[in-house]
Amino acid sequence: MILSVRDLSVRIGGSHILQGVSFDVPRTGITALLGRNGVGKTTTLRAILGELPASGAIDFDGRPALGRPTHRLVRDGLGYVPEDRCVFAGLTVAENLRLAVRSADPRFRTVYELFPELHVRAGQRAGTLSGGQQQMLALGRVLLNDQRLLLIDEPTKGLAPAVISSVATALDRIADRVPMLLVEQNLAVVRRLATDAIVLAAGRVAWQGPAAGLLGDPALARDLLGVGSTVRRP
Ligand SMILES: Nc1ncnc2c1ncn2[C@@H]1O[C@H](COP(=O)(O)OP(=O)(O)O)[C@@H](O)[C@H]1O
Ligand SMILES: [Mg+2]
Repeated sequence: MILSVRDLSVRIGGSHILQGVSFDVPRTGITALLGRNGVGKTTTLRAILGELPASGAIDFDGRPALGRPTHRLVRDGLGYVPEDRCVFAGLTVAENLRLAVRSADPRFRTVYELFPELHVRAGQRAGTLSGGQQQMLALGRVLLNDQRLLLIDEPTKGLAPAVISSVATALDRIADRVPMLLVEQNLAVVRRLATDAIVLAAGRVAWQGPAAGLLGDPALARDLLGVGSTVRRP
């Protein structure tokens, strides 16, 4: 396992958001983190990153992670692409990429091979990119450095169907090299990409297993993920 989470508990204000969440992320493939809006998916990712006070135990790449500062975890290869993408709108694509470099040997070739558009648009201000292009820039920034695990939060949110498909293709290629814990509400994308799935409900893990087991059972998926969670073909 690249990541083991045990009995993770997070309180924000007066609410007990995560109430003993336990799951594992294998060293290969994409593990989808699912659940209804507001259930605590983003909170889970931020607790793993050490951005929120949490209790329980987290093991990342064979070492205890809970209580270690975020920058150490990032240095050790924990990559995070947040939901809001966090690109610097006033800087160019190339400047955004350069700011993300941490290693002596950044992987610009890999990033430009994966996202040729970032090369073409290197001199363009990131704020003028489309949502899909900004997502590619956010993914590109994290991939410049060697990563052991990627935490990616809703990468296809708000994107047009054709763009969702190209982001999914990129995630699929990235996952050939780096395991991923992926929060994704689009179940067609989950069906296409995920090997394993974890479903949060009421502060706990309500279901964990092979993604096909969840998505192959529409009644179960509807029950766990809510009405309207039909799996349409991409
Ligand atoms: N900074 C915060 N302050 C107060 N409540 C928060 C904060 N962040 C998240 N929450 C609450 O925690 C719950 C889980 O949020 P979140 O992890 O963002 O859910 P998800 O990503 O599954 O949609 C929600 O009820 C949300 O309102
Ligand atoms: Mg969220």
